[in-house]
Amino acid sequence: ESGKLWGGRFVGTVDPIMEKFNSSITYDRHLWEVDVQGSKAYSRGLEKAGLLTKAEVDEILHGLDKVAEEWAQDTFKLNPNDEDIHTANERRLKELIGETAGKLHTGRSRNDQVVTDLRLWMRQNCWTLSALLWGLIRTMVDRAEAERDILFPGYTHLQRAQPIRWSHWILSHAVALTRDSERLLEVQKRINVLPLGSGAIAGNPLGVDRELLRAELNFGAITLNSMDATSERDFVAEFLFWASLCMTHLSRMAEDLILYSTKEFSFVQLSDAYSTGSSLMPQKKNPDSLELIRSKAGRVFGRCAGLLMTLKGLPSTYNKDLQEDKEAVFEVSDTMSAVLQVATGIISTLQIHPENMARALSPDMLATDLAYYLVRKGMPFRQAHEASGKAVFMAETKGVALNQLSLQELQTISPLFSGDVSHVWDYGHSVEQYAALGGTARSSVDWQISQVRALLRAQ
Ligand code: ARG
Repeated sequence: ESGKLWGGRFVGTVDPIMEKFNSSITYDRHLWEVDVQGSKAYSRGLEKAGLLTKAEVDEILHGLDKVAEEWAQDTFKLNPNDEDIHTANERRLKELIGETAGKLHTGRSRNDQVVTDLRLWMRQNCWTLSALLWGLIRTMVDRAEAERDILFPGYTHLQRAQPIRWSHWILSHAVALTRDSERLLEVQKRINVLPLGSGAIAGNPLGVDRELLRAELNFGAITLNSMDATSERDFVAEFLFWASLCMTHLSRMAEDLILYSTKEFSFVQLSDAYSTGSSLMPQKKNPDSLELIRSKAGRVFGRCAGLLMTLKGLPSTYNKDLQEDKEAVFEVSDTMSAVLQVATGIISTLQIHPENMARALSPDMLATDLAYYLVRKGMPFRQAHEASGKAVFMAETKGVALNQLSLQELQTISPLFSGDVSHVWDYGHSVEQYAALGGTARSSVDWQISQVRALLRAQ
């Protein structure tokens, strides 16, 4: 006997290198718990179909509990022959309860088993990641609320654009993350579909009630087609894309903060807990945590692209290539979990320097508001833009700040300028104009905070 589950038709032995090459136990052992869970449900399905007696099911359930206990207590001993978690658990069950164990796999294939396990594992993992994501969003909203009245320069093309509230910047990133939360739950919905009972390709010939299996494992629905069910990994691809997009958002936020933490900007200072020093330059405080968040994005994208490349061109139904889906899922899940926790720590401990933020504001950033001033006096916006541009040019030519032009000088550009133009040169006044919902005025920032808080409460 080869000691393999599929040994019957084999006479030769497997090359040791092939043995190792073929094995997935080093990583699919993560599935031990859901594998036991799936097997328990399946044994009940076999009982209802009349293929197992009540006594046999009890024996199997009891044995599976023992298997789980060994995993939980880290006493499960792997054999060199254990190819994957499914073979390992069944081999151990047989050692524990004897020949009855051989009935458990009746009508089941590892093809429907593995994808059931993976879906169970990922369904649970979505809750974990969702909680971490909401934890980060909450931290960001708390900061945004506490630091609502701090102003700093907003940039487009990394050029000074318009004054904004610091909290408006925080919320811009938090709002992106709320979409990631929503998207994760949508992916989870499509993960939550039961493939068990599909067999290897053709389905189940023994009258197993898949609706019972669905209810046992608490899935939202059952898969429609056994060929599709055993081969499709759309839910894995979707999860990896979800992670990729979420990492895009986190990486962008990290990049902003890396920039803002430079001496040149000095808007923020990373806490020591999330920085490192240089082995050579004593003055250095490096934003390694943020840089690693930025770099992990590349790793996650790689997994997403890698899985799609693995799937592309496969013939239909199960092929061993699909075994490679799991490392991607586990690695990306671990990465996301770490990144979300580190990001939460960074945001909650970040020090900000409001004086430096204020100092970085410059009157030229109010040129747009100067144009709006003229619009409010009745000038068409295109003309007002032109007039404000002329004022910028005049200030530049004279080598003075935009707000240093005298009223007389401004009036050479347009007679609509009058004494009240002085109000334009107030940054606080500037941001308060942007009160339409979604803008940087205090009222709108409060509205954003309450909207995100409502989403938080709905969790
Ligand atoms: N370890 C395999 C995987 O992860 C289980 C399914 C193997 N099925 C098979 N027919 N070889 O995909």
